[in-house]
Amino acid sequence: MSSTDKLILENIYSTYYSGEQQLPVLNNISLNVGKGEFVSVLGPSGSGKSTILKIASGLLRPEWGRVLIDSKDITGKPQLVGYMPQQDLLFPWKTLKQNAALPLLAQRSSKKEAFTRVEELLPSFGLDGFSDYYPYQLSGGMRQRAALLRTMMIESGLMLLDEPFGALDALTREHLQDWLLEIWGRFKRSVLFVTHSIDEAIYLSDRIYVITERPGKIALEKTIELKRPRSKTVITTSLFSSYKQLLIDSLNIKSADYPGPDYQKES
Ligand SMILES: Nc1ncnc2c1ncn2[C@@H]1O[C@H](COP(=O)(O)OP(=O)(O)OP(=O)(O)O)[C@@H](O)[C@H]1O
Ligand SMILES: [Mg+2]
Repeated sequence: MSSTDKLILENIYSTYYSGEQQLPVLNNISLNVGKGEFVSVLGPSGSGKSTILKIASGLLRPEWGRVLIDSKDITGKPQLVGYMPQQDLLFPWKTLKQNAALPLLAQRSSKKEAFTRVEELLPSFGLDGFSDYYPYQLSGGMRQRAALLRTMMIESGLMLLDEPFGALDALTREHLQDWLLEIWGRFKRSVLFVTHSIDEAIYLSDRIYVITERPGKIALEKTIELKRPRSKTVITTSLFSSYKQLLIDSLNIKSADYPGPDYQKES
């Protein structure tokens, strides 16, 4: 980890409390995203992936540990970063253009400036001509692209994407993966991308963190050395298969098998 990192999570522990019940969710998670880097977090359902993104955005304060964005400690302080939650909610009563312009308006742009900027970007997002459509008039893939466009409007340079393609059919998903890589290359953002798809993580990422089942610990950190730009033919290469096998094996390791500080720290 270094000062060239866009995002650093340091020794994060997190527990949810409801009444008497405690649910330990994250167990000593440390990770970093370099400037312009595409990093994925891969892990089973319920392992704490979405919780990692909430903490990274400052929306949730961890029990222990620090979050740094551009070397500044923002732990538990909500930031205007490009965070796209798992169930992205475009406002149904606003048009595509109005939805996408929201972050700019929050950053105090005038309506005119904001709409002009949105209109400029619509073609790159395959949404040209749809700016006055309401979300219900768009396809699932278009809604996801619109949500990504809105996320991109936040000019912090960091995008936190929580399974943005999870609900889509396989064909649309593959198409959007290529499109996302293209957009990422063009806009030079730092990305922390959550997925439970092994293939998706390898295909997109510079680096992958695998986390165990809850309470999530880091089971593996792996740099993906597939050349860019990538195309789907890379999936048939032996290097891709060897990454895949490694990730499958690491996903099978139980949280308890990992050494490291226990969740319940001595006080
Ligand atoms: N606000 C909350 N209050 C209490 N428990 C929560 C809350 N949010 C999440 N949890 C619990 O924390 C655990 C981790 O949830 P999280 O959403 O981070 O998992 P995830 O890895 O993103 O799962 P998925 O792949 O299914 O999206 C789950 O057991 C979940 O029930
Ligand atoms: Mg989740």
